[in-house]
Amino acid sequence: MEGKKLPIAVFVSGKGTNLQSIIDAIEEGKLSAEIKLVVSNRSKAYALERSKRQGIPYKVIPSKSFKNEQEWGEELISAVKSSGAKLVVLAGFMKIVPTNFIEAFKNRIINIHPSILPSFKGLDAQGQAYRYGVTLTGCTVHIVTPELDAGPVIAQAVVPVLPNDTEETLAQRILKHEHRIYPQVIQWFSEGRVVVENGKVTVLGARYGTLPFNPELEKF
Ligand code: GAR
Repeated sequence: MEGKKLPIAVFVSGKGTNLQSIIDAIEEGKLSAEIKLVVSNRSKAYALERSKRQGIPYKVIPSKSFKNEQEWGEELISAVKSSGAKLVVLAGFMKIVPTNFIEAFKNRIINIHPSILPSFKGLDAQGQAYRYGVTLTGCTVHIVTPELDAGPVIAQAVVPVLPNDTEETLAQRILKHEHRIYPQVIQWFSEGRVVVENGKVTVLGARYGTLPFNPELEKF
């Protein structure tokens, strides 16, 4: 893709399908970014196989190897700084990131969460929605702040809960939308269009707010 590539770090803990969607969007020329570093808190995360396959540098930095959160945070800060990444993308990173890390990259850490926030914060958001019995759920990309799953919203996609759904089929359907909106949001950062002001996000020049709901409107 032409133009300047945004250097990013992607944090993972598990399968890494979101990481894959970012890799694919870059390869397809839809996303002007370069993954400088993948960080995992788990050495066995399958996401690391994806990094290796792609030749992307990675580091395993488990919180339990450190005396306290502060020291873990310092290691994360130095890993990201030395990679040159300007945006930190939490993609299924299942540990709460330390506050010193959040302060070091203020408004430059984003997360994807599998519900329409502020509903169903925390773990197993898809299961929480399924058990509650909502008919609509989805996913949210937001800025990371010290309060869990509560930072300014950048984009959301709505996903229906179908009558025959299981928790698994619902989670899979949500994931497809995650793979659609996360690369889109990173591209907005790459274009310098994401502005955070008074706890709210504006995407400069967005044609229809930040609600990428209709895939037809999502061609970018
Ligand atoms: C995704 O559904 C992501 O939204 C969720 O974990 C999954 C990771 O999948 N994240 C959270 O629940 C964060 N609280 P992946 O490893 O295949 O990208």
